[in-house]
Amino acid sequence: PVSLKEAAKNHFKIGVALNERQLNGMDDKALEITKQHFNAIVAENCMKSGRIQPVEGEFVWEHADRFVAFGEENNMEINGHTLIWHSQAPRWFFVDDEGNDVSKEVLIERMRTHINTVVGRYKGRVHTWDVVNETILDDGSWRQSKFYEIIGEDFVKIAFTLAHEADPDARLFYNDYSMAKPGKREGVVKMVSNLQKQGVKIDGIGMQGHVGLDHPSLEEFEKSIQAFAALGLEVLITEMDVSVLPSPSNHQGAEITDTFEYQKEINPYTEGLTKEAEQEFHDRYMDFFRLFDKYSDHITRVTFWGVTDGHSWKNNFPVRGRTDYPLLFDRSYQAKPVVKSIADFL
Ligand code: XIL
Repeated sequence: PVSLKEAAKNHFKIGVALNERQLNGMDDKALEITKQHFNAIVAENCMKSGRIQPVEGEFVWEHADRFVAFGEENNMEINGHTLIWHSQAPRWFFVDDEGNDVSKEVLIERMRTHINTVVGRYKGRVHTWDVVNETILDDGSWRQSKFYEIIGEDFVKIAFTLAHEADPDARLFYNDYSMAKPGKREGVVKMVSNLQKQGVKIDGIGMQGHVGLDHPSLEEFEKSIQAFAALGLEVLITEMDVSVLPSPSNHQGAEITDTFEYQKEINPYTEGLTKEAEQEFHDRYMDFFRLFDKYSDHITRVTFWGVTDGHSWKNNFPVRGRTDYPLLFDRSYQAKPVVKSIADFL
């Protein structure tokens, strides 16, 4: 039987994001696929700050513990996602009892408690951490998050330092989307090389692989792999999925409407993919894997953002309630032809 992890074993690890239903044992078929094809796992949501510390000082370990146990039972690389991120963070993190922004000192103290507690609990068991997620915008400027507003650029250095102290053996990464955009590439290179100059331990850069059929360009994606590899770091393709649906900017954040025409426009494949679209999807994955193969000296892991199409966040992003087909396995848990193609190629 085909096994992606076997096929890729001399190249890079093959990872997958697991959701809470799967970790709760309510989706054994997904876990079977995971065991057969993947040798690295990442938690889709359950290690994010809003989930793991929803109330100050009250940590919820249930799902994260299962996630780590599953990885250990199956001898997988266990990837922690994510410590410091503006999104899916609890509001209490940034405000005092009156609802005003906390001081720089208080926010750093909260980061310290959060990182020490989470990384410390899984010391030696979670092998890598996405320490900071999505802090550089597409034009290379800094996101005006609460971390940035209250602490300034130094919050990134502080986060990496704290994570390193909590588990000196964990590999530490910066992770972001739209990494093929020149502005983002330059901004990330600048930020990361500054960290390196200051002697901060950072091991790699995660390029989220949320791509479409026609964007981004492979050439630009390749330039970013080269730029990150040139820093002497591991390059990771994290969160890979290939959306087959249109993603025009005027649909960003659009509400569901019940107008049939509009649904057709944003969701042309509710009845299943056409043969042409299936072929395009297949070829697009192969283009990316040819690129990953070319840089397999630098790329240490390629991680898919979900097991089957039915699990994919792309069904609800950037437009809610669509039917997307972005992953390697279909809604009936069947491997798509691309799985064999990738395995044969590697
Ligand atoms: C997504 C999850 O897949 C969804 O279930 C959740 O509702 C929102 O977050 N970048 C990231 C991931 O780093 O954590 C996001 O995951 C997708 C974008």
